[in-house]
Amino acid sequence: MELLDAIRERRTVRSFRPDPVPEETVMAIFEAGTWAPSHGNKQPWEFVLIGPATRAGLAERFREILEAGLLRSPELPEARKQAARAFAVDFGGAPLLFAVVCPPATTELDRYDFPLGAAAALQNLTLAAWEKQLGSIWLSIGSNPLVRELLGVGPDSTIAGIVAMGVPENVPPPQPRVPVAEKLRRLP
Ligand SMILES: Cc1cc2nc3c(=O)[nH]c(=O)nc-3n(C[C@H](O)[C@H](O)[C@H](O)COP(=O)(O)O)c2cc1C
Repeated sequence: MELLDAIRERRTVRSFRPDPVPEETVMAIFEAGTWAPSHGNKQPWEFVLIGPATRAGLAERFREILEAGLLRSPELPEARKQAARAFAVDFGGAPLLFAVVCPPATTELDRYDFPLGAAAALQNLTLAAWEKQLGSIWLSIGSNPLVRELLGVGPDSTIAGIVAMGVPENVPPPQPRVPVAEKLRRLP
């Protein structure tokens, strides 16, 4: 697959087939993550595979987070609420669940740069997975203190994202993008 095609065609996937992801594929995907750039090549990322016991607790927290937040929104259409609830039952049935965690930063610069490096690794690995016909979703629930506790992430570390991954059951249509010209600013 061409890189630009993978970048354009990757979609956030919210329902998965149960087929397990082979260990060597998992490792190849994480390895692609490690080729991300990082300030001073500090490689500020850790990949934390989430096993069944932790996953069950996490799914429970996820549902609580949804109920307390997104699902309370009166503007959100009922169909979207139902889809979110269905996904939250068990992360869309994804066979693979992991977190990308940034280690503690000790300088101002590292506090700024570490999450950026980890996000670059995360994006790398979602593209590598797409190239292998695996879909994924990048979840923000890592900002929740109870989720951090559940994953054993200390106060000085950051969860860049929690990722559910597997063979897509359904690939949604692309979300619209703002034309690049509207995102471009030129300085004199
Ligand atoms: C930092 C980050 C956090 C995200 N968090 C969530 C999330 O918590 N729940 C969710 O359903 N999607 C989440 N997404 C996925 C976005 O909703 C998705 O990327 C966006 O709608 C564009 O769709 P696409 O990825 O298919 O192009 C997140 C994406 C990023 C980069």
